[in-house]
Amino acid sequence: MKAATLFGGLLSAAVAHGSDIFYQGGTVISFNRNTSNLDILREADLHISGDRISGIYGANETITPPSNATVVNATGMIISPGFIDSHHHLWQTAYKTLASNTSLAEYFQRYGEYGPAVQNFHAEDTYLGQLTGCLELLHEGTTTVLDHAHGDFSDETTDAAVDATFECGVRAYYAHAIHPLPNNYTWEMQTNKLRSLAQDERFNSTGLVQLGLAYDFFATAPEANVTELWNITRDNNLSVITTHFLGGPWGNVNSPVHVHEYDMLNHSTPVVFSHASFLSKEDANLLRETDQYICTTAESELHYGHDHPHAHNIQDQAALGIDTHFTYSSSMVTQARLWLQSLRAPQYLEVLEDWEIPRNNPMSVYQAFHLITRAGALALRHDDIGIIAPGAKADIVTFRGDTPNMLGWEDPVAAVILHSNTGDIEDVLVNGQYVKRGGKLVYGDYAGLSRRFLESSKRIKSIWNNMDWPRLEGIFYNVSPYADADVIDTQRGDGSGYYAQSGALQR
Ligand SMILES: *[C@@H]1O[C@H](CO)[C@@H](O)[C@H](O)[C@H]1NC(C)=O
Ligand SMILES: *[C@@H]1O[C@H](CO)[C@@H](O)[C@H](O)[C@H]1NC(C)=O
Ligand SMILES: *[C@@H]1O[C@H](CO)[C@@H](O)[C@H](O)[C@H]1NC(C)=O
Ligand SMILES: *[C@@H]1O[C@H](CO)[C@@H](O)[C@H](O)[C@H]1NC(C)=O
Ligand SMILES: *[C@@H]1O[C@H](CO)[C@@H](O)[C@H](O)[C@H]1NC(C)=O
Ligand SMILES: *[C@@H]1O[C@H](CO)[C@@H](O)[C@H](O)[C@H]1NC(C)=O
Ligand SMILES: *[C@@H]1O[C@H](CO)[C@@H](O)[C@H](O)[C@H]1NC(C)=O
Ligand SMILES: *[C@@H]1O[C@H](CO)[C@@H](O)[C@H](O)[C@H]1NC(C)=O
Ligand SMILES: *[C@@H]1O[C@H](CO)[C@@H](O)[C@H](O)[C@H]1NC(C)=O
Ligand SMILES: *[C@@H]1O[C@H](CO)[C@@H](O)[C@H](O)[C@H]1NC(C)=O
Ligand SMILES: *[C@@H]1O[C@H](CO)[C@@H](O)[C@H](O)[C@H]1NC(C)=O
Repeated sequence: MKAATLFGGLLSAAVAHGSDIFYQGGTVISFNRNTSNLDILREADLHISGDRISGIYGANETITPPSNATVVNATGMIISPGFIDSHHHLWQTAYKTLASNTSLAEYFQRYGEYGPAVQNFHAEDTYLGQLTGCLELLHEGTTTVLDHAHGDFSDETTDAAVDATFECGVRAYYAHAIHPLPNNYTWEMQTNKLRSLAQDERFNSTGLVQLGLAYDFFATAPEANVTELWNITRDNNLSVITTHFLGGPWGNVNSPVHVHEYDMLNHSTPVVFSHASFLSKEDANLLRETDQYICTTAESELHYGHDHPHAHNIQDQAALGIDTHFTYSSSMVTQARLWLQSLRAPQYLEVLEDWEIPRNNPMSVYQAFHLITRAGALALRHDDIGIIAPGAKADIVTFRGDTPNMLGWEDPVAAVILHSNTGDIEDVLVNGQYVKRGGKLVYGDYAGLSRRFLESSKRIKSIWNNMDWPRLEGIFYNVSPYADADVIDTQRGDGSGYYAQSGALQR
């Protein structure tokens, strides 16, 4: 594949910006709109013209690349649709590795939107976190993200996050959060900011970044407040509403049932419920009736302990997301693999617990692939992304098939989900534009950006490393009492081996 990269690279130098791109002889994971299934096309050609996929040609069709096209030799490569991450907080990069052993209750107090970040993140920190976070996604093959943008603590930090999102080149749904912050950024200022963003001409219907609303108080806020937000959404044709919903011991706010009480579900605006860990049967039925989606953030719900005991019952209205890239990898492929195996285990166990032997495997790699591609598009009600089909947006990821971990693959979907890693990703295109090429981000001065980011991250980490840990006592937000989880013992004899390192950056 070295030759292919070189070939593509040499040609691209000779071809003007905005030319067509022609991937020749690859294995294309295409989507058949007639059957709603994937069609694996081998030795196939993929033609990209402008922001769209203009043609896909099987081995039996001899096509001469158009003379204006950059031709890429894709022999041995897998060409996949770009991945869709349906829940993320991109501003938080500066915290990276700080919360390796954090619980959700601790997260709320230390890292979330109501904690010390409000005072300590300046616009520069938000900008750098958002931009490096966004570029991390592109590096991993994510081409669309729904950003629950709750780092918007002022007009300045909001502008910084918005600018970074536009600069990055990812396809994004920027959902501006309206939230009761512990500073002087009031409801009026936040809603005015949302209205003014809606007038920002960069958020036009053909732009790469769309504007949405993030809101978490459907069950508790005065009715007039929710109605005002719904009015803003409708008046400005905002592209999405997203909300955190947990339920069960975490408290039952923002459930589909609550949102439906405001008649906000049964409309053209997509509403994405992040986590939905303890959703009820009634919630699940409402999601199906109104065709709205949950977003399972598989690793986050394991890491922090939201858990997701009912998720297996609602995967037909579910997409996947990362949530917090400062705590673990933002690779959607990794999420899909983790989630696939997490869903298989309890299904098997149900049989084993009856002292019986499972005959079949309860979930396929194709289902896992669906959750990080087409399902994310359906959650956003966008029929043109998450698939490779004629006319769809050219959001593409190519995987090398010849690395030691990939060698010998036959099924490209199994290869991507179960064997690939980010090191295999060669090219990433968003809207027909290279954002990663030949294994390298296209972003201009990444080294310079990294230096600026590390300065910001160092300042943030020094503040957090010197901060007292929150005392989690009594009742969590007046809902449920706190209790201890048993710690795992990994050490022979006395002691468990449990510790976390803090202040790593300062040493
Ligand atoms: C390249 O050529 C094809 C057909 O020959 C045409 O449809 C397409 O618009 C051209 N692309 C550009 C960027 O000029
Ligand atoms: C889908 O069906 C239409 C109409 O029958 C046909 O023209 C088209 O080739 C089909 N597409 C695929 C990918 O099979
Ligand atoms: C190539 O094969 C595909 C699938 O087998 C078929 O749908 C298509 O019509 C064939 N095209 C030509 C030009 O024979
Ligand atoms: C494409 O790459 C393959 C494998 O590296 C090589 O065998 C083939 O000759 C190349 N094709 C062209 C047209 O360069
Ligand atoms: C909000 O508070 C900050 C810090 O106390 C101050 O600098 C800023 O001017 C205040 N903004 C408004 C709009 O009152
Ligand atoms: C739409 O937004 C994009 C940026 O996302 C910008 O480049 C383009 O000029 C805008 N188009 C219009 C008509 O304002
Ligand atoms: C509701 O809106 C009013 C302004 O109409 C605002 O002052 C108040 O803070 C909001 N309440 C909540 C809980 O967001
Ligand atoms: C929402 O819009 C409706 C219809 O335009 C209007 O009657 C109502 O007063 C608005 N409510 C709020 C809180 O803005
Ligand atoms: C609202 O947005 C959708 C997609 O985001 C678009 O298809 C539709 O045309 C827009 N409607 C108006 C009235 O602008
Ligand atoms: C959604 O709207 C349709 C048509 O307006 C109606 O038939 C249906 O009952 C509604 N569903 C719910 C859950 O409100
Ligand atoms: C994480 O580890 C540190 C150091 O061992 C400890 O102080 C802290 O309480 C741990 N946090 C949680 C939530 O367990």
